[in-house]
Amino acid sequence: MREINYQFDGKVALVTGAASGIGRATAIAFAKSGANVVVADVLEKGGTETASMIDALGRKALFVRCDVSDTQNVKDLVRRTVEKFGRLDFAFNNAGIEDTPASTTECTEDNWHKTIDINLKGVWLCMKYEIPELLKQGGGAIVNCSSIAGLIGFSGIPAYTASKHGVIGLTKTAALEYSKSSIRVNAVCPGVIQTPMIDRFTQGSAEAKAQLTAGAPMGRVGLPEEIANAVLWLCSDSASYMTGQTMTIDGGWVAQ
Ligand SMILES: NC(=O)c1ccc[n+]([C@@H]2O[C@H](COP(=O)([O-])OP(=O)(O)OC[C@H]3O[C@@H](n4cnc5c(N)ncnc54)[C@H](O)[C@@H]3O)[C@@H](O)[C@H]2O)c1
Repeated sequence: MREINYQFDGKVALVTGAASGIGRATAIAFAKSGANVVVADVLEKGGTETASMIDALGRKALFVRCDVSDTQNVKDLVRRTVEKFGRLDFAFNNAGIEDTPASTTECTEDNWHKTIDINLKGVWLCMKYEIPELLKQGGGAIVNCSSIAGLIGFSGIPAYTASKHGVIGLTKTAALEYSKSSIRVNAVCPGVIQTPMIDRFTQGSAEAKAQLTAGAPMGRVGLPEEIANAVLWLCSDSASYMTGQTMTIDGGWVAQ
C-alpha cells in the first residue's frame, strides 16, 4: 500500500480512540505528514504507546486520558489540546465500541445506552467542543468514524447499527451548520478492518473470520492504514469542496 504524505507541518490533529486499531494508525499517519497529534483514549497504556511512536517520528504528541461519553473529559481534552499546542486543525472522532451481539428483542437497555453513549453521544460531544476552537482560528476539518453499519442493517447488532447511522446524521448536520465557516465535516465508513475490535468480535473463531472476509468482494479484510489514508485525504486541501459526505472504504461490501 502506498503511503501518501501530506504537508501538515505546524498543524494539530486530535484523534480519539487512538490507543489502538484505526485510531492509532491515523494518529501515526498524521504525524508522518508533519502534524503534532493529540492522542485521546480511555486506555492509558495503549495511548502512551501511540504517543511514544509519534515522538519517535520527531513530532510532538500529547496523550490525554478521555472517555468521549463524558462531558467534562471532552471539555478537558479540547482545553488541554489548545493549552499544549495553541490550536486545533483536524479532528478524527473515532473512538467506539462493538456492542454485545443480540437481536433487537434481546438487546439490553444497558447495552443500548453504553453503545449509544460512546459511539454517538461521544461524536456529538467531541464536535460540540472542537468546533468552537476551529471557529476561533477560521476553519478546519473534522472526520467522524461511522461504519458500513451506518449505511445498511446488520442482524444482531442493533445498538451499534443505530449509533453508526446516527453518526452520519450528525455529520451532515454539522457540515451544513458550519459550511460557511470553512469547517468541513465528513465521515468514513470502514468495512471489516483488521483491528482488536474484530478479534474480539470473532473471538478467535476462524469460521467467523472467514465469513467476514468472504463478505467483502475483494476477499480480504482491510488494514487500519487504509482507513487512515482516507481520513488524511478528507482533512487535506485535496478535499476542499467536500463536506457532509460519507466515504466508504470496505473492499466493495455495500456495493453488492
Ligand atoms: N474494525 C472494524 O472492522 C471497524 C469497522 C467499521 C467501523 N469501525 C469503527 O472504527 C472505530 C475504531 O475501531 P477499531 O476497529 O480501531 O477498534 P479498537 O477497539 O482497536 O479501537 C477503539 C479504540 O477506542 C477506544 N475507546 C473505546 N471506548 C472509548 C471511550 N469511551 N472514550 C475514548 N476511547 C474509547 C478503545 O480503548 C480503543 O483504543 C470505531 O468507532 C469502530 O466502530 C471499525
